[in-house]
Parts: sequence; structure tokens; C-alpha cells
Amino acid sequence: MSSWVLDRSGPPKLHLKTQSLKPLTLLPQASTAALGTHSLYLLCFSTTSSSSSSPNPEMIASVRHLLPIPNLNPTPSHHRRPSAIVICSSRVEASTRKAEPLPVFSTVRSFAPATVANLGPGFDFLGCAVSGIGDHVTVVVDPSVKPGRVAITAVHGAPKLTLDPMNNCAGIAAIAVLRALGVRSVGVSLTLEKGLPLGSGLGSSAASAAAAASAVNALFGDLLSGNDLVLAGLESEAKVSGRHADNIAPSILGGFVLVRSCDPLELIRLPFPAGRELLFVLVSPEFEAPTKKMRAVLPEEIAFKDHIWNSRHAAAVVAALAAGDVAALGAAMSADRIVEPRRSPLIPGMVAVKEAAVAAGAFGCTISGAGPTAVAVTDDQAKGQAIGEAMAEAFLKVGGLRSKVSVQRLDHEGARVVSSIPH
Ligand code: HSE
Repeated sequence: MSSWVLDRSGPPKLHLKTQSLKPLTLLPQASTAALGTHSLYLLCFSTTSSSSSSPNPEMIASVRHLLPIPNLNPTPSHHRRPSAIVICSSRVEASTRKAEPLPVFSTVRSFAPATVANLGPGFDFLGCAVSGIGDHVTVVVDPSVKPGRVAITAVHGAPKLTLDPMNNCAGIAAIAVLRALGVRSVGVSLTLEKGLPLGSGLGSSAASAAAAASAVNALFGDLLSGNDLVLAGLESEAKVSGRHADNIAPSILGGFVLVRSCDPLELIRLPFPAGRELLFVLVSPEFEAPTKKMRAVLPEEIAFKDHIWNSRHAAAVVAALAAGDVAALGAAMSADRIVEPRRSPLIPGMVAVKEAAVAAGAFGCTISGAGPTAVAVTDDQAKGQAIGEAMAEAFLKVGGLRSKVSVQRLDHEGARVVSSIPH
């Protein structure tokens, strides 16, 4: 254990220069100071050897989660400093893992955020996670459930969702994670708490899948990578709304994500500069727009000039994010000429809502995901409220729909554990 370097610029990373991993390793005190206040952390990560032919190969461990292990001595957590790291290493590929993982926790509760997909011209390949709203899933080791299986005990907040795990987003993702982990001897049951309305355009199905994937993975020691979890969630998305990762990827990873490919999965995170204010004004009317139905209206073929137009503006979205230019982001998000014009007529009042947003000072406005939520962007909280009220008024006056307004920021974290009980 010669040189560990904790890199906290972006997702935490440990750079380890050594020939082999050791089962128990202390981090240098300077690095542990950055972690938090618990005395022990279960450090769960995936490793890749970047240059096996090199005489001193550098191993890079990407840390998915630092799970605080409750101290047996009940000192208030804010008085404790980290003193040791327990390291459980794994390989990225679940199929190469020899031993079946055992539960590390008996209960894990996870949260996954809502998402805004498409961002205008980025149909099926751009999305971001938004703060404040999302779904929770609690997973427990359950001896009454057949080993290797998942049961759904309850769904709160959406009575029409099935408890059949094969047909429920959270259930499908949980089953996929158990399979990826190779869990055969332990059964789990889960409870889903819906914070997001169904068919709202806020990535409701993806948030359920992301929370379930996060909780099941953490229950067994957080062995899977973010991409593995996205793949598990994608199985659920494929079943309920179509095989697209622009909701599930940001719900799991947080921030803005560009989905370069689903098969194989290739995701590109798009960092937004810290210190720039970016607010999403989300206006959700009381109207359900099932994603499958909203995809059915899309054309099989498009005009070459529309392809050029949308590509230009999708590139402009990416450039605006890199520059932290909210005005340019709004303009580019507003410019979709392929999908929005086909979907808008199906959402009562949407054309007027977009006009009202811009008239009230928004930098731009479009349909969030498949709708019916309308999303506008601004860089000012007070303006955000006023923009939201103007949009809601348009939904009511023109569309005859009541709606809910919220102004949110970017969620940088994605799906995360919010509480756990050791096994
Ligand atoms: N890209 C997907 C669509 C997102 O617009 O159909 C669904 O939320």
C-alpha cells in the first residue's frame, strides 16, 4: 500500500500505484478528512487495470458509494472522524465474479431523482437529473422470498402500479441487478414510494428502476458500476416505454448525460460549470401522456434539412453546457423541429405554454421527455416562479388543465442510498 491518492474532483476516485490490492488498507489521513464524519466506511468499487504490460501498472478504482458503517459506540455522527476504510474489491463484469455476494445490509433505502430527457433536439440521447423530486425504494433481505427472487410488498403513491415484479419498473430493475450480481441464495422484497406522477415526462419509470437498482446493489456491497446499473434499468425502460437511456442514465449517475450508444452502452457525462445558476421550471399538468403513445406519433423518416437543423441545435446544447451558458442552452433546447412539433398538439395548451414561458423571460422552453410536463430554463429563482405561474396560467386558459409548478436545480448525485441497516 504505497501510494493511494484520493481524487475528489468529480466522482471520488482512488488512484492506487501497486501490484496488488490488499484486503484492508488505511487511507492517508489527509484524504480521509475529506470523506465525512463516520468512523468506518465500506468502500465499494470496481477496478480496471489500465496497462497490464507496464512494469508498474496503475490500478484505478472508481468509487461508486462510500457507505457509512454505523459505529457500535453511539457517538453522534457529527463528532466522529473517519479512521479506517474497509475495502471490498470487485470486477466490473459480474459474470467473471466467482463467489456469490452476501448481503452487507439487511435493509437499504435509496432515492433516485426525476429527469428531463431530450432537452429539445436531443431525442433519446440527452438528459439530466433534477433535484428535489423523485422516487424511493426500500429493499430488505427476506427469507420468505424464494432465493434469487424479488417480491414487491407495497407501492405507495400510485395505486394502479402492479405488485408483479416482472411488470413493475422497480421489480424488473431489481431482478436484473440480482442476476448481474449472481445472487442465487438470497431473496429480497421491496417497497416503492412514488414521488413522481406516472406518465408525466419526468422519468417516473426510470426513477423507480434507478432507486431499486441502487438499493439492491448496495444491499450486496455495491459491487456493480454505474454503467451496470444503467443496463439493469434499461431492461425496465425497454419493457415499459422503449429502449432509451436518456432518463435512466442521469437518474442513476446524476448531472447531464449524453447517451452515445445503448448497444453497447456508452455514456458521456457533460459537466456543467460549478457556480453558474441553472434553474429548471417544471410545469406538470393534470394529464397523462404514456411514453409509448407519445412515441407512436413520431415519424419513421425525416427530411434531411430537419436532421441538419436538429443536429446543429443538439450540438449547441452540448456547447452551452460546457460553457455554462444558460441563455444559449435555453435557445438550443427550444429549437427541436422533429419531435416537439408532433407531440405538442397532443398536449392541450403546450404551444401557448411555450410562448408564455418565453414571454415571461425564460431562455427557452420545450416538452420534458415525452410530456406532458413543460420545462423552461432560467438563471434567476424569482423569475423562475413568475415563469412557472405564466406557464400554468396558459395550461389552464388554453388547455383547460390545472398544473403543478416547481423550480428545481440540477441533481449532481443521481441514485443514492439514504439509509441502511447492517446485516
Ligand atoms: N426520449 C424519450 C422520449 C424520453 O421522448 O420518448 C421519455 O421520457
